[in-house]
Amino acid sequence: KVLILDFGSQYTQLIARRVRELNIYCEIHPFNKIPTDIDSFKAVILSGSPSSVRAENAPHPDLSKIRGQVPLLAVCYGAQYLSHFSGGLVEPSNTREYGRANLTFIKENEPLFNQIEVRSQVWMSHSDTIKNLPTNGTLIASTTDVENAAFTIEGEQTYGIQFHPEVYHTTDGKQLLENFLVHIARVEQDWTPQSFVEETVEALQEKIGNDKVVLGLSGGVDSSVAAILLHKSIGTNLYCIFVNNGLLRKNEYESVLAQYEGMGLNVKGVDASARFLDALAGLSDPEMKRKAIGRVFIEVFDDEAHQIKDVKWLAQGTIYPDVIESVSATGGPSATIKSHHNVGGLPDFMKLQVVEPLKALFKDEVRRVGASMEMDAAILGRHPFPGPGLAIRILGDITAEKVRILQEVDAVFIDNLKSWNLYDKVWQAGAILLPVNSVGVMGDERTYEKCVALRAVESTDGMTADWVNLPYEFLQKTSNEIINKVKGVNRVVYDISSKPPATIEWE
Ligand code: XMP
Repeated sequence: KVLILDFGSQYTQLIARRVRELNIYCEIHPFNKIPTDIDSFKAVILSGSPSSVRAENAPHPDLSKIRGQVPLLAVCYGAQYLSHFSGGLVEPSNTREYGRANLTFIKENEPLFNQIEVRSQVWMSHSDTIKNLPTNGTLIASTTDVENAAFTIEGEQTYGIQFHPEVYHTTDGKQLLENFLVHIARVEQDWTPQSFVEETVEALQEKIGNDKVVLGLSGGVDSSVAAILLHKSIGTNLYCIFVNNGLLRKNEYESVLAQYEGMGLNVKGVDASARFLDALAGLSDPEMKRKAIGRVFIEVFDDEAHQIKDVKWLAQGTIYPDVIESVSATGGPSATIKSHHNVGGLPDFMKLQVVEPLKALFKDEVRRVGASMEMDAAILGRHPFPGPGLAIRILGDITAEKVRILQEVDAVFIDNLKSWNLYDKVWQAGAILLPVNSVGVMGDERTYEKCVALRAVESTDGMTADWVNLPYEFLQKTSNEIINKVKGVNRVVYDISSKPPATIEWE
């Protein structure tokens, strides 16, 4: 396995991603918590950082157990760190060193640049520059503006590179990482979804033994894959709870529950729709709605968890991007405690020990793991859906009638996306019920009814998103069908805003 030491760069997770794409397992640890079992890592990568090595409070970890003992690739800040404290010189750069650059020099027969040619494009993002290489440093690559773009240290398998191999715009970045990890450090490329499943099942069995575990299923990819992994490990000692908050898609509760049962899961469906609707009555503020839903969910889940005798563990489908364990710009690792749960004491189920088998994976890896366990593609390919569900897609207050209208509209939209083979090309889609009535005419009658917006976006992580250019014909047919079928709606609009500055949801 490979260790990535995080100095707080926005790209640290991307490094991990690229490493995993090479089928190599890696872990990210904050620079101030270097694992003690350093021998178990076959290579180490130092990330970039928003800090300057010249600043007093910049990360200054002790690398004495790493340097010269494990193959080391230092990226950007990492490379400057190696230089600054080992006889080199780092200074503020005079020119802007951001964005695209091209390699103008590569040392002959340099293994790090095997199969990479002069002119290859690299991506720079730094304001300090390495003026003098560290002691025993040899220059191995340059760009027009940055002479010391890459160096190696004689007698060690240590490399420093000023550009970012992990970003898409560094054309041969993946090749460089492969050169370092596979050819120089000789790390094995044996991380596969199958090996992950085997190792995780074994580890879960050892950790949990004969204890009982409770898990909340949401219908989404992460909790479903977590459930199947645990089911493989401990069978019927896994107790799943699937809560219907009344804000799911049309028929979703029934069909997903049936699917879960079909997979052999020990799952209990709890229809608490009325309790959620009651708690939402009269609330229009989005954050108040979210809080009410969160509170009722915890109450319902706690009631149900109490029915299971001697439960010891709470399993969660947390995935890597949910884990905030990287380093904040000020140098300290960010806190991971969800403080709002502490107000007024923890519900009992939250006092359980937590098990999170997917904590080290990215979304696409979770999907690959699910596929390797032969899970239904319809579950693995499901669009993300917010926890508060349709409540944040009904602008203003929530009533049972509004939920029904939106469920009908959403069902027409989603079904059509599927029948036009567009569903898998869209990252997330849904309908929004606007608090607006508008005038229409149906037959000879004047109408004054609701307006709905359709939203379909492309994205990779939900952080940024763009609207999808759905065919006019599709929009035309879908709009017609919605207005003809769903009583109470006489107008359909399509949302053409990107995120930022808009968001994916309207609330
Ligand atoms: P926004 O609207 O912030 O949404 O662009 C980004 C992604 O997050 C989802 N989302 C939520 N998910 N609880 C959730 O579990 C929420 O309160 C929530 N709000 C937004 C949204 O569906 C999109 O995928």
